[in-house]
Amino acid sequence: MPTISDMSGKVALVTGAAAGLGQATALCLARAGADICLVDINLAGLQATAREIESLGRRALIQAADLAETSQCATLVKNAITELGRLDALCNVAAVFIPSHTTEMSDADWERTLAVNYTAPFKLIRAAIPELIRNQGAVVNVTSCAAHMGQAYLAAYSSTKAALTHLTKSLAMEYMHQPIRFNAVAPGGMMTALAAGLRNLENPDPSLLSRIAPLRGLNEIDDIAEMVAFLASDAARGYHGAVINIDNGITVG
Ligand SMILES: NC(=O)c1ccc[n+]([C@@H]2O[C@H](COP(=O)([O-])OP(=O)(O)OC[C@H]3O[C@@H](n4cnc5c(N)ncnc54)[C@H](O)[C@@H]3O)[C@@H](O)[C@H]2O)c1
Repeated sequence: MPTISDMSGKVALVTGAAAGLGQATALCLARAGADICLVDINLAGLQATAREIESLGRRALIQAADLAETSQCATLVKNAITELGRLDALCNVAAVFIPSHTTEMSDADWERTLAVNYTAPFKLIRAAIPELIRNQGAVVNVTSCAAHMGQAYLAAYSSTKAALTHLTKSLAMEYMHQPIRFNAVAPGGMMTALAAGLRNLENPDPSLLSRIAPLRGLNEIDDIAEMVAFLASDAARGYHGAVINIDNGITVG
């Protein structure tokens, strides 16, 4: 695993920071010395993450927000810069995962998936770009192995992750000559609340679900978090437009 560089004096905004990979990423960045703006819909989880960050001697700014309300995204970025003094890294980790038979997926679930997983990262990035360029900063988007393979019952989720992958590459191309980096990490299955969502699906065809079963087991949350934090740091200066698969071989075939 590459080593994250010293983040002392730097500030990162991490979405999904109340639990799972977002929380682990925020803690990784804080251990490297960064102050963190924590965004999530789950206030209690944010408070728990903030306590851990403060116990490391770093500052934590809590912004409880529903990212489906994408009109707030610019304000979330502005508040991070105002309250913590600057912004050096934006890690888009939050996502919703609503497995569904396609004919039974509601408009609301479709639109919520697109808003949280795709439109919110775009609007956060758009608002953060000028400050990130000023600070030679970085964006790290968390996608999924689902971006690279058709996955039954996940039409909305996997399409947003494919779109986020392409957004990462398109922005990397557009900002090729600017001091800002755009990269993505595509995890395989991790033992988090999100993954447990598959259990709510009624009458799935097991032969289709077996196609996405991890033959070598699940990924460790901390392994993925360390890669996200590394890409957010100056140590990843050679990474631009990369999509790093850490999926225990799930996308091999
Ligand atoms: N767990 C897996 O198997 C897996 C696999 C591949 C990719 N991923 C990706 O990893 C990332 C992190 O997921 P995780 O596994 O840690 O799941 P998680 O459920 O533990 O964390 C997701 C976080 O996003 C937050 N969130 C959800 N909707 C939100 C909203 N509307 N507004 C603000 N915050 C919201 C949740 O409250 C939660 O804290 C996601 O992008 C997910 O797509 C996860």
